[in-house]
Amino acid sequence: MPLKDKLISKLDPMRKEVKSIIKEHGNKLLSDVVVSQAYGGMRGVKCMVCETSELDPEEGIRFRGFSIPECCEKLPKAPGGVQPLPEGIFHLLLTGDLPTEDDVKEITEEWRKRSAVPDYVLKGIDALPPDLHPMTQFSIGILLLQKESIFVEKYQGGISKYDLWDPMYEDVMTLLARLPRIAAYIYRRAYHDNKQIDPDPKLDWGANFAHMMGVKNPQYKELMRLYLVLHCDHEGGNVSAHTTHLVGSAFSDAFYSLSAGMNGLAGPLHGLANQEVLRWIMQLKEKLGGGVPTKEQEKACWDTLNGGQVIPGYGHAVLRKTDPRYVAQREFCLKYLPDDELFKVVSLLYDVVPPILVKQGKAKNPWPNVDAHSGVIQVYYGVDEYDFYTVLFGVSRALGVLSGLVWDRALGLSLERPKSLTTKRIKSMVADLKPKA
Ligand SMILES: CC(C)(COP(=O)(O)OP(=O)(O)OC[C@H]1O[C@@H](n2cnc3c(N)ncnc32)[C@H](O)[C@@H]1OP(=O)(O)O)[C@@H](O)C(=O)NCCC(=O)NCCS
Repeated sequence: MPLKDKLISKLDPMRKEVKSIIKEHGNKLLSDVVVSQAYGGMRGVKCMVCETSELDPEEGIRFRGFSIPECCEKLPKAPGGVQPLPEGIFHLLLTGDLPTEDDVKEITEEWRKRSAVPDYVLKGIDALPPDLHPMTQFSIGILLLQKESIFVEKYQGGISKYDLWDPMYEDVMTLLARLPRIAAYIYRRAYHDNKQIDPDPKLDWGANFAHMMGVKNPQYKELMRLYLVLHCDHEGGNVSAHTTHLVGSAFSDAFYSLSAGMNGLAGPLHGLANQEVLRWIMQLKEKLGGGVPTKEQEKACWDTLNGGQVIPGYGHAVLRKTDPRYVAQREFCLKYLPDDELFKVVSLLYDVVPPILVKQGKAKNPWPNVDAHSGVIQVYYGVDEYDFYTVLFGVSRALGVLSGLVWDRALGLSLERPKSLTTKRIKSMVADLKPKA
């Protein structure tokens, strides 16, 4: 069954289910909110819905119920490859079903058909300073695509809010089809004298991205497929997902919503951490070299902490164990680059950093997250322009947040509008508030 038909077959049952949950249980309490959560980034407040994935603090992410090892095992692979194809994870996120090989081929073909980036978008990027941060260029590139939004056209033509998922789906498919070209264009322009590489229509989405970036080693195509699967989604409350969802809730189209989400991903506490990790590791390496844990390495970590900075790549707002996305990348390294010097430094830090964070006693999670590992593999394949790493993350994250956006419109989710309070108001309320049981 074609992807869109499959999606259509899921809409009605899901809508009925949601409607009956709201009707029968709509006034039941999901979460209490205490004063510190209002100031503390709403950590742990259960107040939003995301269908595509769910994060368990101990176990890590599950995409539509499937863990990362399960996805790596069950998702279709490219001919001769062993890594899961991003088209497959998109199918899973969007429909909730594992795809067949044919399902994946259909998505590759659909994205290929839609992949031509209009000239004015590339010209718009050309007008930017090449040394403008790649994430800024990426966000602008996404916005420039907005000119052709079908969602806007249909909305202006008058459409029921329950049919909005359809033009949203069309925009999402086109946007995803074009993202690798935009990202690779920015990369080649910023770091390779603007020597652009034409897409190869024979390749799958991830491999074509690797090809357009100009990395020759064929292993990089496999890495790219894995990378694009691993970073795709991390439930609804993280900054990039929540921002995309929030902006979309105003019936802004997929281009506005994703561009906004990418601006959130560009923050150093979120996606930009992967570039910061590499910078930090290189500084550490320059200062101390590789080798086994030593007092000096521990001291360098303490210097970072005592300087009021965070150790990038460690800690998480929800996770309380080593990130399975870190583990999957570590396994890739053990297979393809076990003797790489930087990989050894990353492994060493896995021994050194957690006990230090525990000793410092602040971070709730002393273990590494996805960003602690991704940059090192990029360097191995010659992509050592750290500033670009968050764009790679963004191309992947688009798979999850855009699938979510289609479902937001399919389920008719409302405009987001939580209630804010002033500190003066909170002060006037606290005497009567009960402490959490
Ligand atoms: C991810 C992150 C933003 C989560 O923040 P959070 O939910 O507030 O985390 P916690 O509740 O554990 O934070 C409690 C304290 O520990 C600190 N902490 C958390 N992780 C830390 C780290 N890696 N290094 C140093 N301190 C850290 C926080 O800054 C906070 O300090 P404060 O009380 O002085 O404000 C945080 O762990 C971080 O900054 N990590 C480094 C950046 C990074 O890797 N980001 C990518 C995430 S996927």
